[in-house]
This record gives sequence, structure tokens and C-alpha cells, in this order.
Amino acid sequence: MNTNEQTYLCYHRRHLLGIEGLTPEEITILLNRSETHVQQNRQANKKKSVLNGRTIINLFFEDSTRTRTSFELAGKRLGGDVINMSVSTSSVKKGETLIDTAMTLNAMHPDVLVVRHPQSGAVSLLSEKVNCAVINGGDGAHEHPTQALLDALTIRRRLGHLSGLVIAICGDVLHSRVARSNIHLLNTMGARVRLIAPVTLIPSGIEHLGVEVFHNMDEGLKDVDIVMMLRLQRERMQGNFFPSIREYFNFFGLDEAKLANAKDNALIMHPGPMNRGVEIDSDLADDFGRSVIREQVEMGVAVRMACLEILTENLDQSEGSNL
Ligand code: NCD
Repeated sequence: MNTNEQTYLCYHRRHLLGIEGLTPEEITILLNRSETHVQQNRQANKKKSVLNGRTIINLFFEDSTRTRTSFELAGKRLGGDVINMSVSTSSVKKGETLIDTAMTLNAMHPDVLVVRHPQSGAVSLLSEKVNCAVINGGDGAHEHPTQALLDALTIRRRLGHLSGLVIAICGDVLHSRVARSNIHLLNTMGARVRLIAPVTLIPSGIEHLGVEVFHNMDEGLKDVDIVMMLRLQRERMQGNFFPSIREYFNFFGLDEAKLANAKDNALIMHPGPMNRGVEIDSDLADDFGRSVIREQVEMGVAVRMACLEILTENLDQSEGSNL
């Protein structure tokens, strides 16, 4: 392999702000590196030292359980110092702006900032104001890149590849950054994406992203390899998007009858947190032959370790070049 090819097969960006625009090679590099952490995470001694001396700040302007916890675990397992800041305990409550908060944290010389924010684009804006690497932990309805990577790793480990698969993403697509990041990743890796939702929960013009849109679960799920369910994000809804929860479950909730349209060995996914009995039947969610929801959580730690590791390696290189 010549030097040019080696450079090409790197993730050489300073930040991870979204999946849109990443090349198949960059995505593959991130997935391959994640894979190297899976076994280690299953051992009694999970600790490495590659982030010794590095500081990671989790800056969360929105609630989170699994994303924040898995970034914290990922940073600690790699030997870094991890600080969690949530808005309820920060000066943002006292009126500080996003940028002032970022500049204040930046002055403490963190190496990586992991940021979740309710506004689309906020994380990218913040990344322009700081010296460290920034990872988008979810911005509004825009992107959630590490979720798409962990979903892809889960699929790749189960089915061996992404290319050629047919994946149905079902439910509240309108409010879902998980859906957007997954659409970009799956399309880039040669899979085919179908979206299934009521008309009110599909963003207008989404077909331009190269997806097929269905409003009927039986039609949309026909022969798919993967059924990815989304949470109804009621905290982001202003107004009524469907008549009632019962009616929503009847038409768009995943149950045995609707799942029967998919391939026999189709996998069930959900990014969590789940609303049992709203978007997914509780027994199906716990059917561990078909549901890979727990594996998704497990892969989340490995993916976040890979992202932290690669971005700090890139910092090492740029720090080195400044000498
Ligand atoms: C998702 C999110 O926050 O966008 N959750 C997560 O990160 N695991 C999806 C959701 O909240 O429904």
C-alpha cells in the first residue's frame, strides 16, 4: 500500500460531527477500530492506558442515559479523565450562552468535548470555537453519529456485511437524529433504506436522501433484513401527530403479525429508550433470538472507545506538527 492509500484509509478529521459526508473508508475505519474493543470489554480487566493524561468532558444540554454513560465508560476504560456536565448543574441555568460555556470549558484544556444539544447545528457551531476535538452526542433532529456507528457495528457482527441489506426504519422519523445518521451511513455503505411512518411523522422531501417511503407497515416490512424501530419523541412534539397511542400501536407498532412480513431471520433494533407497547410489543423487544437491542448498547461502548481513541491520535499528530 502506498502512502496516499494509507492516508486515504484514515479517519483524519479533527471532529466527529455527523455521518453525512463521511466516506465508506472512514466509516469502515471507525467500525474496524470499534471491533478491536469488543473482546476487551467482555474481559474482567477492561482497562487500557491510551488516553492517560487526556481529559474528556461530556457536556449534555439534554437528558441521556446510555449515550452519556457509554462515553463515560469508554473514556475511563481507555485511561482518560472524564468529567460529566449536565445543564441542570451548569451556569447555563444562570443565563450563560452555549458559546460562553464552550469557551469556559475550552480554557481548561480538555482534549475531547462530547456534546448533546437540543438544537440542530449547535454542536457544529461549538466545534468552531474550541481547540479540542468535538464529538456530536446528538443535536436536535439532525445527527447522532455514534448511534449510527453502533447500529452498523451490531448489524455487521450479526450479518457479516452492510452492503445489499434492506433496512426499514419505522416510526417517528420526523424528530429522529438516529434515523438521519442511519440513512447517511447505510446509504454510504450500499444498503437500501425504507422509512415507514404516518404521513405526519415523515419530513417532507426526505426522499432526496435516497430512501423509499411507506405509510403501511405490512408493505414496508416486506422481506426486509432489519427492522429498526424509533421512539415516539413526544417531548419534541408540539400538537397532535396521531389520534391516540392505541391507534398508533395498531398501525405502526411492531408486533408479531407485522414482523411476519420481514425475512424469517430479520433482526429487530431500537436505539432506546423504548416505549413498550407504544412503538414495540414488549415480548418482541425481549425476544433475544431476534432483538439485538442489548447488543446495540454493548456495541455503543466499543464505538465510543474507537472514536475517542482515533480523535486523540489525530490530536497527537496535529500537536506533533506544531512543534
Ligand atoms: C436516541 C437519541 O437521544 O436521539 N437515544 C439514544 O441516544 N440512545 C433516541 C431517542 O431518544 O429516542
